[in-house]
Amino acid sequence: MGSDGQSSARPTFTGTTNALEVALTDDVLVVHGGTPLQGKIRVRGAKNLVSKAMVAALLGDEPSRLYDVPRIRDVEVVRGLLGLHGVNITDGDEDGELVFDPANVESADTDEINVHAGSSRIPILFCGPLLHRLGHAFIPDLGGCHIGPRPIDFHLEALRQFGAVVDKRPEGIHLTAPTGLHGTKFVLPYPSVGATEQVLLTAVMAEGVTELRNAAVEPEIIDLICILQKMGAIIKVHTDRVIEIQGVPRLGGYSHRPIPDRIEAASWAAAALATRGDVEVLGAQQADMMTFLNIFRSVGGSYEVVDARPPRGGSAGVEGSIRFWHPGTELHATALETDVHPGFMTDWQQPLVVALTQARGLSIVHETVYEQRLGYTEALNKMGANIQVYRDCLGGTPCRFGRRNFKHSAVIAGPSKLHAAELVIPDLRAGFSHLIAALAAEGTSRVYGVDLINRGYEDFEAKLADLGAHVERP
Ligand code: EPZ
Repeated sequence: MGSDGQSSARPTFTGTTNALEVALTDDVLVVHGGTPLQGKIRVRGAKNLVSKAMVAALLGDEPSRLYDVPRIRDVEVVRGLLGLHGVNITDGDEDGELVFDPANVESADTDEINVHAGSSRIPILFCGPLLHRLGHAFIPDLGGCHIGPRPIDFHLEALRQFGAVVDKRPEGIHLTAPTGLHGTKFVLPYPSVGATEQVLLTAVMAEGVTELRNAAVEPEIIDLICILQKMGAIIKVHTDRVIEIQGVPRLGGYSHRPIPDRIEAASWAAAALATRGDVEVLGAQQADMMTFLNIFRSVGGSYEVVDARPPRGGSAGVEGSIRFWHPGTELHATALETDVHPGFMTDWQQPLVVALTQARGLSIVHETVYEQRLGYTEALNKMGANIQVYRDCLGGTPCRFGRRNFKHSAVIAGPSKLHAAELVIPDLRAGFSHLIAALAAEGTSRVYGVDLINRGYEDFEAKLADLGAHVERP
């Protein structure tokens, strides 16, 4: 799909037919916009925790059990990779329950691993667990969303400091640990989510103590720490982004119900606001979404938190949820800066910007996590939005991208009337924002490449139907 998040809003089909054209032509959703989304949908375990929890199961010498696993493509990729490494995965009794048996972890054929090349960024997290279990690891070319260069230098440097030997070859990266893995002191140049997880998954069974400074502390990371602790790890989370891990010689299994997907929850919230709708997101949790809720309110969106209540006496329990709705009055412009936790998540940015096109005044968005995550605004402009992107750090704090000439700030002038268009989905979150824009626009849009949304949004077409959206496959 689109190479760098800057793809054009219109599929440029030519007279000749190639695989991409056929794929795009087949993979299209026709969206009749202008209907407010209304109703209830449910979110399950967070994509960005579940996939890591699955990798953690490799470290144990007993089976692990994970609940609420969504049916999304990223889960299938990790499932495939674990299977290749001898982990036996079965469905549990509950819908969404997976059981991982790592009793027979074994080396996998590099060609077979390479079938998954380019499909996800999770394979990089197999390094530590495979080095512990097998003494060697092979990592294919990584995939994931094209939202900037997404280097893995922090990961490889951390692994080297643990004692791994990293050998980059054309087919992928081979790693060995000739003298085992040993605790280390490591300072991350930036609080990277993936690199923090890399250190955690490696340090838990490395000999001695590891101290990680400038660590990411996203709720998904804290939940991963909970999982590792259930398996027998000793991990202390200190103040000021310092995590200390005391290595242990063995880990057991875990049984875990993951935190809900706060990115998916915010995406549906943004869809409710942009379409003047009213959506209750079952499973959404206030504590993990505080920063989003503050911005949602400052824009003028309404929400109500319903706390979960277990069944008691004869009365039935209540599932926790957050209901998000458009107030019916004008929305206000706002200024926001994406950041690491507890800041405003970069993954919330694209869906919310569609709602900001409907707010009166000038909204400012400063993207400080990824250098190229505003390319999708071009498509919104073709639909009638008025969004300018800038190289400057707008909105206050200078970030690492200001000096490097990246268009990473946006000014959104609203409100704009959006009209239908032909759209090509460039990456997961921008893709969902395209979908929201098509739902909010007057007229019939064709959204190409929608299958990409299945990477991170479970049953999104069924959920759209539940919310009364008028969408169809041609
Ligand atoms: C995770 O990606 C998520 N993916 C992303 O979600 C999310 O946007 C991101 O964290 C930030 O919250 C998964 O969990 C699978 P990072 P990750 O390492 O771990 C730079 C989605 O749509 N960096 O925190 O890959 C990097 O370039 C996805 O669900 C280095 O320079 O993100 C970026 O600018 C998209 N060198 C910044 O750090 C490195 O070795 C943050 O990246 C690693 C990262």
